[in-house]
Amino acid sequence: MPHSALVVVANRLPIDEAVLESGAREWRRSPGGLVSALRPILQGDGTSWIGWAGSTGPAPDLPDIDGVALRAVPQSQEEFENYYEGFANSTIWPLYHDAVEQPTFHRRWWEAYQRINRRFAAAAAEAAPPGALVWVQDYHLQLVPAMLRELRPDLRIGFFMHIPFPPPELFKQIPRRADLLRGLLGADLVGFQVPGGARNFVRLIERVLGLRTRHNEIEVDGRVVHVGAFPISVDVGELEELARSEEVRAQAAQIRADLGNPDRILLGVDRLDYTKGIEHRLKAYRELLADGRVKVPNTVLVQVAVPSRERVEHYKALREKVEREVGGINGEYGRLGVPAVHYLNCSYNRAELAALYLAADVMVVTPLRDGMNLVAKEYVACRHDNGGALVLSEFAGAAHELKQAYLVNPHDLDDLKDSLVGALEADPSDTARRMRAMRRYLRTHDVTAWARAYLSALEFPVGL
Ligand code: F6P
Repeated sequence: MPHSALVVVANRLPIDEAVLESGAREWRRSPGGLVSALRPILQGDGTSWIGWAGSTGPAPDLPDIDGVALRAVPQSQEEFENYYEGFANSTIWPLYHDAVEQPTFHRRWWEAYQRINRRFAAAAAEAAPPGALVWVQDYHLQLVPAMLRELRPDLRIGFFMHIPFPPPELFKQIPRRADLLRGLLGADLVGFQVPGGARNFVRLIERVLGLRTRHNEIEVDGRVVHVGAFPISVDVGELEELARSEEVRAQAAQIRADLGNPDRILLGVDRLDYTKGIEHRLKAYRELLADGRVKVPNTVLVQVAVPSRERVEHYKALREKVEREVGGINGEYGRLGVPAVHYLNCSYNRAELAALYLAADVMVVTPLRDGMNLVAKEYVACRHDNGGALVLSEFAGAAHELKQAYLVNPHDLDDLKDSLVGALEADPSDTARRMRAMRRYLRTHDVTAWARAYLSALEFPVGL
């Protein structure tokens, strides 16, 4: 499974460059994410992954990882600014996330987006053996399916959108909207995180392109394009094993001790992105402190904010706002040696994250819009003790599945505050019942199940 050779096309390659003690550099497989999902599947001849190696300039030569050939697609600094920072992350990203920040558009960004998409399509066309499955990932590469089909009509092409796909009223604002839709229609199967995204896509195809659709099928150029929802997940087994390890359990106890053994620890783990609702969460926490409903040092908040897209304006502005708010809360409610918010602007490895998850009593996931939100699923996967409670925004894709979480509307501050207090004060038998149910669900809906479901639908699109 799958029966044909597989080529994955994604903006990033699944590798990181590590600097060894000797100063030498080495490429290592990135932990987690898509690559661990595909590891059991991505074996065999002709399997390759096409993507960007993470720095501008000529493409480096890369080793195979776990039998998968890596092919780097180069981009210049100017292309990176116009394609990645520009069209992908300043036009599409905000627009597809409900325009929670104003999307901007420049024609030179669109030109770079087309150019880089064409480069990815050419690399895939060159790498794919006859009749291979090619799986294109995410919003950076929406034009690739049609470009690739033109070069290689023998291939079976899939596309999966990791981020939300907006309703027609929003999508229609985007300049070059018809080109984007036609790009996606080059695929045989267009997958989304939730059924709403799939429905939005079908409605847009009818309204913007005037094509005939039937349920989740679209007829185009004598072909049928299938559309469906395939909620992505995490490597539940790997995370659970990690969280059960002696080392991680000791680290979790150490974290609690380092925080002064408070009664309750609230935890947020996010990329520092304006879609994640970090400001809303901080505001709710500040009001709870002001109302005296939570008190330092009995309760503390740990907020991990992983730096992301740091040169993009909205991200710079967000960092300033978040850090000002954290400073304000600590100034007002912290004590000597006991801050109210422990703010960590860095990334953590898998083991450190698992320890934080185990240490946290309440995991706070409050995006204003999110395709899925894997942090919520990682938290549940790590809680082998059935401890902890998950407060989850109903605007995260994960809320469709993790129904036993404390679901909140992060825009409604009072709702958010009540849910936080509800989760903090809940009877342990109630939180354990909720956690058990979510864990039972995730065990059968892990990332490998996701990849298998998608790839079988791509190979044999029956009964979608
Ligand atoms: O959620 C979409 C996504 O592209 C993920 O695949 C990725 O982990 C994250 O956003 C950050 O992406 P990047 O650092 O490549 O902009």
